Amino acid sequence: MLPTCARWATHATGPLVALALVVGCADGPFAGLTVAREAERQQTRSTMAEILGALRVALPLGLSDSRFSDPGNREVLTGALDTLAENAAGLEAHASGRDAGFRYLSHSLAEDSRALALRFGEGRHREARFLLNQITENCVACHSRLPSAEASSLGKLLLEDVDVADLEPAERVRLEVATRQFDTALATYETMLRSPAATPARLDLEGLLTDYLVLVIRVKDDLPRARHMLEAFSARSDLPRYLERNVRSWITDLTHLERHPSAGPAVERSRALIEEARRRSGFPMDRTVLIYDLVASGILHRFVNEHREVSDEVAEAYYLLGVSEARIRRSFWLSEGEFYLETAIRMAPEADFAELAYARLEEETLAGYSGSSGLHLPPDVQRKLEELRALVDGS
Ligand code: HEC
Repeated sequence: MLPTCARWATHATGPLVALALVVGCADGPFAGLTVAREAERQQTRSTMAEILGALRVALPLGLSDSRFSDPGNREVLTGALDTLAENAAGLEAHASGRDAGFRYLSHSLAEDSRALALRFGEGRHREARFLLNQITENCVACHSRLPSAEASSLGKLLLEDVDVADLEPAERVRLEVATRQFDTALATYETMLRSPAATPARLDLEGLLTDYLVLVIRVKDDLPRARHMLEAFSARSDLPRYLERNVRSWITDLTHLERHPSAGPAVERSRALIEEARRRSGFPMDRTVLIYDLVASGILHRFVNEHREVSDEVAEAYYLLGVSEARIRRSFWLSEGEFYLETAIRMAPEADFAELAYARLEEETLAGYSGSSGLHLPPDVQRKLEELRALVDGS
């Protein structure tokens, strides 16, 4: 039997009290690692506190066009946006030893924050406000990768500063996840999913249904709660046929995985889940198998967070993450899935899956840069694809 502190990382669906457990086993064989991880966590939290402080100033002002562009608020906003950019840059600078998801998302936050401070400084308020609104996508994506046992009391302060009652429920819930108020966010999602105010198709097509499932499965590891919610959702009389089919399949899969949690080494288990999803798909982007992707990606995120070494196994974990993330969420703002595929190729260019990872990455990249006026691949993206192709070809 594995020691308790290692078990949480390999256990798929048990109650996740991950961080508490890691901290709690300081005397065990992982003591050195645990101390290092706790120091890392404290450093991240203090950067997060600075970022939160900056957003407590910027976000409430950003909710109104006139307050955001008021010259009287210029100095205080400049200060807040500079603090945000500095701390986001600091987060990225300390990310080199972390998993690829953290590296990608801290880089993305740093880029967005830099652009935001710059645009605001140039007086381009409309663009700056747009960026300020988008920035929380980075927070949400990073926070919803791993389990969390507790809500942040610090994060709550931001919600108190913003007049959340004035926000659309979809904006409010994004802010709740960005500030790590996960239980509040789940309740908001559940109210939205039950409310006749939005049609089921809209909730699905805007990604809210998926975001809810990401949170309840990956962060809360609560399959029964997801199933109960979906049962209530499927009882609505206004589901389109395709969604009825998806939800029915999700309920069946949750019931199955609750009764038969997968066992064994993390990468093997995830591979089996993703393989099962592929086998059962009626067509390539068939979302009836979403639950398998979500459970697998949860296992994989925990695995790569723990395994920072370079190995074929870790590379395969990234390949599988790339495959599952591409089906879970298609964000216009972030390309997390593509970065996982790239990481897999760089880490193990000779492995069997590298060729497939490249093919997927190339297809997704080309699709991302093509539009009604043709394909516009920037030179640096083109160079990166060539470099990765050469790695896979061994040249
Ligand atoms: C690259 C990943 C990443 C990004 C991006 C990110 N965070 Fe975090 N955040 C973390 C991690 C990791 C923690 C620590 C969780 C823990 O307690 O172990 C954290 C914790 C927090 C906390 C809790 C701090 C505390 O001490 O209670 C808040 C609040 C927070 N983040 C807000 C934000 C906001 C707002 C954004 C976006 C502007 C953001 N974060 C972006 C990774 C990220």
